[in-house]
Amino acid sequence: MEIDVTDAAELPRHVAIIMDGNGRWARQRGLPRVEGHRMGIRAVRAVVECARELGIPFLTLYAFSVENWGRPENEVSTLMALLREFLLKELPDLVRHRIRLNVIGEAEKLPSYVREVLDRTLALTAGHTDMTLTLALSYAGRNEILRAARKLAEDAARGRVAPGEITENEIAARLDTAGMPDPDLVIRTSGELRVSNFLLWQTAYSEFLFTDVLWPDFGKTEFLQALDEYSRRHRRFGLTEEQAEPPSGGL
Ligand code: FPP
Repeated sequence: MEIDVTDAAELPRHVAIIMDGNGRWARQRGLPRVEGHRMGIRAVRAVVECARELGIPFLTLYAFSVENWGRPENEVSTLMALLREFLLKELPDLVRHRIRLNVIGEAEKLPSYVREVLDRTLALTAGHTDMTLTLALSYAGRNEILRAARKLAEDAARGRVAPGEITENEIAARLDTAGMPDPDLVIRTSGELRVSNFLLWQTAYSEFLFTDVLWPDFGKTEFLQALDEYSRRHRRFGLTEEQAEPPSGGL
């Protein structure tokens, strides 16, 4: 598929994806739900590779929400096993392509056999600067904001910050995403039109793209289509069109 996303100025710096529809993909084929997750990993690989080739520096994937802990036990344990397998298999490529793995969420809640591999992968890729692949694991946006509020309250109680002087930056610096740019583009697959507790603070001015494609069917073509649509959006950040995009031609 030929889509012109070669103009780097039109590319998002940070793409965040709500990967949805694995279960429906499997059900449509009479397969167990976990097969949908297995195929979902293939889509993860395709999108990571495409983002890297294009030079998108930040890609964030909603892999496991706090709410997902409530799923049937065998689905949760399969997802954990798949995550571990993914990390083990991807490590050589992460190293070869100088991709830094990053995690947001309460990763300490993951079972120790996943945490071990995760911690090792985080440590071995920590110095990489070409691209940051962030996995949201045991993540929920409200929980992230709550934890940031607690840190801020502690700092205030210790006199490190004056309540009247707390700025948006003080909050952002205590979120799991501290130091990362906000997502320019959020993609959600499978036709659901919800945010589902994903990056609530960070998506204040993100562009949203919803597609009916189920996550296991989301590949390079769909990713390029999403980027193409993004490149045609006019971001205004609350300003008027003229302010956001002054007419070109003059000095
Ligand atoms: C949503 O589909 C998907 C998830 C809850 C998990 C996403 C996980 C993967 C793609 C695999 C593991 C990821 C990595 C990065 C190793 P759903 O189960 O909610 O689908 P449904 O809405 O059709 O039931």
